[in-house]
Amino acid sequence: MVRTRPKVVVALTLTPLLLDKLADCDLTMATRDGSDRERFRTVLADADGVLVNSNVPVDGDDMAAAPGLRVISTMSVGLDHIDLEAAAERSIVITNTPVLSDAVADLTLALMTMLSRRLPQAIRVVADGGWSVPLASDLAGKVLLLVGFGRIGRAVATRALAAGMRVRYVDIVEARPAIPGVDRAGPLAAALPDADFVSLHVDLNAHTRGLMGKKEFSSMKPTAFFLNTSRGAVVDQAALTEAVANGEIAGAGLDVLENEPPRPGDPLLTDPNVIIVTHIGSATTETRHAMAQCAVDNLLMVLRGDGNPFVVAPPRTPPR
Ligand code: DGY
Repeated sequence: MVRTRPKVVVALTLTPLLLDKLADCDLTMATRDGSDRERFRTVLADADGVLVNSNVPVDGDDMAAAPGLRVISTMSVGLDHIDLEAAAERSIVITNTPVLSDAVADLTLALMTMLSRRLPQAIRVVADGGWSVPLASDLAGKVLLLVGFGRIGRAVATRALAAGMRVRYVDIVEARPAIPGVDRAGPLAAALPDADFVSLHVDLNAHTRGLMGKKEFSSMKPTAFFLNTSRGAVVDQAALTEAVANGEIAGAGLDVLENEPPRPGDPLLTDPNVIIVTHIGSATTETRHAMAQCAVDNLLMVLRGDGNPFVVAPPRTPPR
């Protein structure tokens, strides 16, 4: 039976306004970095719902310890911190917050521009007290290959078209809404050799883990740049490190890494042709606010059984 005051575990920082929205729930606060696993599991035990972000894993054992859990609302678009199979088996609804596409797309274009215009090199010249011009390359006329053509991939495409780029995509989903001027490319292996920029916009799951490896990087042009604003583990990082160091590709712009933060001494950190930022894809005030609001609304809609929450479909087996 549904309790009148559902019990909700909050592993997020929420504004007073959003906490007010949850006034009809019985709230328990948990750490928002996933560090206290034991306490998280203990407080989850009699919860109806939980609010998490991508730093707070929810595994099958957590779910087993929470027999009344009905909804896991994550303030993220990525879902790799949640065991989706276990949730499906227990009929736990998962919701996410796909309201960050513009922020991630802006960052992707920024990284592409920084790489193609060699901004880090020009900034370094000035910082070192010099004044010389690193000759760079245009975005206009270049081929951008988007790996994944969902919301974020499409937001990147519209920006790239405005910059005069030729945009192509690969996607395991057959029917993606078209954007005039953007072509579907053949399989990834066939599309990589023609691309000047390759940008990842896929979820991390069993089928995308290690999608970009040695073979893939070695088939790219030596003048091509690689971008990753999705999840670090979609890439074999050792293969990427080698590809940039050996000049198999020209450079990389990374918002995500296999380990965040990276291990000290990781050679990617000091490669002059690699730009790394600290998983800031969604980190704008407006977007983070929209995500938090969306996560709270999703949770309440599922608990109340009304509205249109962003419910994540149960896992499926896509073709490779
Ligand atoms: C997301 O929403 O998945 C972002 O990468 C933040 O984790």
